[in-house]
Parts: sequence; structure tokens; C-alpha cells
Amino acid sequence: MSAAIHISGLRKEYPTPGGGTVIALAGLDLDIASGELFGLLGPNGAGKSTTIGILTTRIRPTAGSAVVAGADVRRSSVAVRQRIGVVPQRANPDLSLTALENLVFHAGYFGIPRVAATARAHTLMGTLGIADKMRARVGELSGGQQQRLMIARALIHEPRVIFLDEPTVGLDPQARLGLWEILRSLHADGRTIVMTTHYMEEADQLCDRLAIIDHGALLALDTPVALKARVPGGGTLDELFISLTGRELD
Ligand SMILES: Nc1ncnc2c1ncn2[C@@H]1O[C@H](COP(=O)(O)OP(=O)(O)O)[C@@H](O)[C@H]1O
Ligand SMILES: [Mg+2]
Repeated sequence: MSAAIHISGLRKEYPTPGGGTVIALAGLDLDIASGELFGLLGPNGAGKSTTIGILTTRIRPTAGSAVVAGADVRRSSVAVRQRIGVVPQRANPDLSLTALENLVFHAGYFGIPRVAATARAHTLMGTLGIADKMRARVGELSGGQQQRLMIARALIHEPRVIFLDEPTVGLDPQARLGLWEILRSLHADGRTIVMTTHYMEEADQLCDRLAIIDHGALLALDTPVALKARVPGGGTLDELFISLTGRELD
């Protein structure tokens, strides 16, 4: 399998108000294969959103490189953006538009004509179970429905690589399971999916491989089965995290 994402020596420092720096990423190396459902797992502040931000060209790295779907995030950010779909950590739809208008408007950024975008939006909203909300203002959608709208928006231009930052935070258990099914079907479709989570069970159930990160550094990288096998006596991912860091994930 070819690499969908190649990350080398990726580093990010943020300035602090006191004139110091926070090291959010301390030199990350990672390859993600085409078609993988890949999880970035770590506690709050581990550097997950910073990694996603750099890979999606929203954040500029301090050092190192990342190539996403064949394009370099620094030199070819426009190409990267055309080839990826992004579901942000917080749903950010345009509240003044209907659900359908959100999708058609977004499709315009990718040069998709209105008629084609409308047809595609209908299909996506049907697949994602929100077809009945098409004409509703986004404010009338539940949290789970807004999240599915963000997924539809991320898919409107048929990207091969999809990023989701903590997609199940704030969803009720039923909506969470619904989202897992959506991710599984995108995966079965052959897309590359990179998601972050701080839920061990979610990472365990969904992902082909996981990178466990903390303080901007890679602690472990493998399949959930192989990671769990590292715990003496064969444990859980929670137990592995404690053995790696001395802390609970929370
Ligand atoms: N815009 C920012 N300015 C300053 N520090 C930031 C900024 N964004 C993130 N950080 C810091 O960088 C570290 C990594 O944050 P983040 O990537 O958001 O982690 P995660 O998504 O895993 O919770 C944290 O210490 C966080 O406080
Ligand atoms: Mg985050």
C-alpha cells in the first residue's frame, strides 16, 4: 500500500504570552498508508489537534515536513486542501443557512457547479440519515445531526483522505455508534481516514493502527491488538497508556 501521509520530524512551537514557547509537537515521524483508518490517541494537550491542523494546512509547522495525498503542506497547501476533507473538533456550520445550503455553498470552494453539488448533497444527506433536515436551518439540528452535516460537508468534493478531530466528543451513545458506522463504511469504501480521540475504546474498536502521543511525542505505534499484547498478561489500551506514562488517560 502506498503512503497517503508522510510526516517527518514535525515540530510545532507556540509562543506564550510570557515570551516563552510551548512545544506542542516535539519532532513527530509517522507514515499512514492509503486506505487506513488511523487513530491519533492521547490526552488533552498531547498535540492531536496541532497535528491535524498542520496536515490540513491550517497551522504552519515550526520545522519538519508533511506530505498529504502527494502534496507538501507547506509548498502545495492549495493542492492538499483540494484532496482532503476535514471535520473540525467543533462543528462550525454557517448558522444563517439551511443544511443543504451549507453543503452547496461549501462545494463552491471546490468549483463544483450548483446542480452537481445539490445532487451530491442529497445523496450524502440520505446516506448520513439527515435527508429530512435538508431545508432546516442548521440551528434546528441536534448535536449529532450537525456532526453528520460536517461529515457530509467534508465529503462533498469526494476527497480520498478525511480528517476528523475528536468527532464523537459531546455525542450521546447512540449518535456515537451511528458515527462509528459511518466511519466504517467510509473505510470500506477505501478512503484514508485519520481521526483523533481520547477514548481508548473507540480507538480500539475502530482503528487499523494507532499512534499514542503525549507531550507532542510518539509513545507507541501499532495495531490495537499488538498494542494490547504489550501489556503484561494481555491488558487493555488503558493499561498500556498507564504503563507508558504512569498516568490515566482520563
Ligand atoms: N494556538 C495556541 N497557542 C498556544 N498554545 C497552544 C495553541 N494551540 C495549542 N496549544 C498548546 O499546544 C499543546 C498541544 O495542544 P493540542 O494540539 O490542541 O492538543 P490536543 O488536541 O491533543 O488536546 C497544548 O499544550 C496546548 O495548550
Ligand atoms: Mg484537540
